Amino acid sequence: MAEKERVPSHVAIIMDGNGRWAAKKGLPRLAGHNAGMLAMKEIVKESSRLGINYLTVYAFSTENWKRSQEEVSGIFRLLIKYVDSELRELHENNVRVRILGDYRKLPAAAAERLEKTLETTRENTGLCFSIALNYGSRAEIVRAVSRICADKDAGRLDADRIIDEELLSRYLYTGDENGNLPDPDLIIRTSGEERLSNFLLWQSAYSELAFTDVLWPEFTPEEYRRILKQYQNRDRRFGGRK
Ligand code: FPP
Repeated sequence: MAEKERVPSHVAIIMDGNGRWAAKKGLPRLAGHNAGMLAMKEIVKESSRLGINYLTVYAFSTENWKRSQEEVSGIFRLLIKYVDSELRELHENNVRVRILGDYRKLPAAAAERLEKTLETTRENTGLCFSIALNYGSRAEIVRAVSRICADKDAGRLDADRIIDEELLSRYLYTGDENGNLPDPDLIIRTSGEERLSNFLLWQSAYSELAFTDVLWPEFTPEEYRRILKQYQNRDRRFGGRK
């Protein structure tokens, strides 16, 4: 694999295709999410190994609440299982976990585990692993604007302070409440779908996009490295010219 200095600093992933993977195997949808969780574990480890600084995954969107109660609660049970089995190793590997989204609205048992995870790994300096949970990009931008207005009204923000891109960025989930998360260099979506689905709309302005037909439960470190290699051959210009 490519030298460390050329791997993208921030990779974001839309983990799609768990349901189709399960259907293909004649299994319940939750079996697909369970297999998806196992794939995610491997990709977190591989990201650390490759020296990627930031990995962000889309685990549960604001729209996912529309799924059946059984599926929704099953995903949160999996989240609890993941934290209970992995927190120790994540911490030992110096991984810092961050959550993007309003995770306090999740069932109490899941929200408590997440609080503990954030607390335990807060000072870690290795891979920053962000999990988007109850996250939607439009809601994130609306929330940022509302908070800017509230801070202006309350005098926490200078009344003359111009609202610019830097200020708005700071009020996003990726903003500096918990330290600034840089914009993703690369966004990967699995399962052959080619859209962003309300994920990091503001932050993806200059991101490279990569799509693969592989269903998320079958996404391996090899496939990940293949996509990263492809990324390294791209020419990023950020609107300018070379
Ligand atoms: C998309 O597949 C996947 C999700 C909505 C859930 C993602 C969850 C995991 C990867 C496992 C759990 C991990 C955590 C951290 C909770 P889909 O169900 O939309 O697949 P489909 O489009 O084939 O139906």
